Amino acid sequence: MSAVHSKSSPTALSVAYRRTLANIPFCDEIFRHYKQLFSPSDFDEEKQKKVSGDTPYIEARSLIIDRLLGKKPNISQTLELACGLTQRGVIFGNEHPDARCVEVDLLEMIERKSRVLDSLHRDRVIQRPANLSLVAGNVTDMASLSMATRSFRNEPIAILFEGLMRYLSMFEKRLVAKHCHALLSHYGGYVITPDVVTKTGVGALGEMMKKILGESYVGAKASREVSNARLGFDPAEHYFENVGAAIHFYESLGFRVGTHCLADIVDELASPGLLGIDIEIVREAFQSLHAFVMSPA
Ligand SMILES: C[S@@+](CC[C@H](N)C(=O)[O-])C[C@H]1O[C@@H](n2cnc3c(N)ncnc32)[C@H](O)[C@@H]1O
Repeated sequence: MSAVHSKSSPTALSVAYRRTLANIPFCDEIFRHYKQLFSPSDFDEEKQKKVSGDTPYIEARSLIIDRLLGKKPNISQTLELACGLTQRGVIFGNEHPDARCVEVDLLEMIERKSRVLDSLHRDRVIQRPANLSLVAGNVTDMASLSMATRSFRNEPIAILFEGLMRYLSMFEKRLVAKHCHALLSHYGGYVITPDVVTKTGVGALGEMMKKILGESYVGAKASREVSNARLGFDPAEHYFENVGAAIHFYESLGFRVGTHCLADIVDELASPGLLGIDIEIVREAFQSLHAFVMSPA
């Protein structure tokens, strides 16, 4: 397993924390149990709270996957890539007992998530559903994904991911896209993802953060340096120029791409109200952010 990839795992906790600020069901419980079990020494909750201006984005990307998945009632099998500490599998699995849900992440993250779900189950917070499998694997590796999907029926699937592509090189993005295409060519179904990392979108999010956080905003350059140090390469060099370039990338790999602008769900977000964030600042930034629904052309 690549050491490079595992360096993005700690970011899963920061994202999980932001979901608690948006009051997404079970996210507070998942985060608290994680903290209790693993006492992460490098996570300062007070400090994080001060720099959580991107919470509306973290909430929106989670919400849009759920909304778009909800529009595909024929889908009863989900494969979530780089699941981190997301709540989706445990909720979907409990709500749809006949569904099959698989979540994939790197070994350490999967072991930790498994312990968190066991702990939630033991404390009777939420049942760990028998139809949810947590699988350790590298999503750039087709063998991992074949292993992850071996319990699926020969029926359509939804492949979901958020917060993964930012940490992958263009070569790795292409590998993941090709593997998704291969899986969908076999099972049918869709990729549903807001993980369309463009320079335009990241720039708009930076502007949003600057307006929301004022002096506490560390700036795009500083956060790039942190990612750079973690990953060993500058991820910004592997962003798509704009949404058109991202569509072209997927179309050239054989996908039909439907786009959904995140601005369309701004009014459904809880976090701007909860955190006192001006919704118009969020709406403006979200004009540049999109989710894709893709299937083989
Ligand atoms: C920013 S976190 C996002 C986690 C989750 N999707 C969320 O939104 O909360 C990035 C996740 O990607 C996982 N990851 C990175 N590279 C991966 C790879 N090659 N295969 C599987 N998981 C990977 C990390 O372990 C981490 O959990």
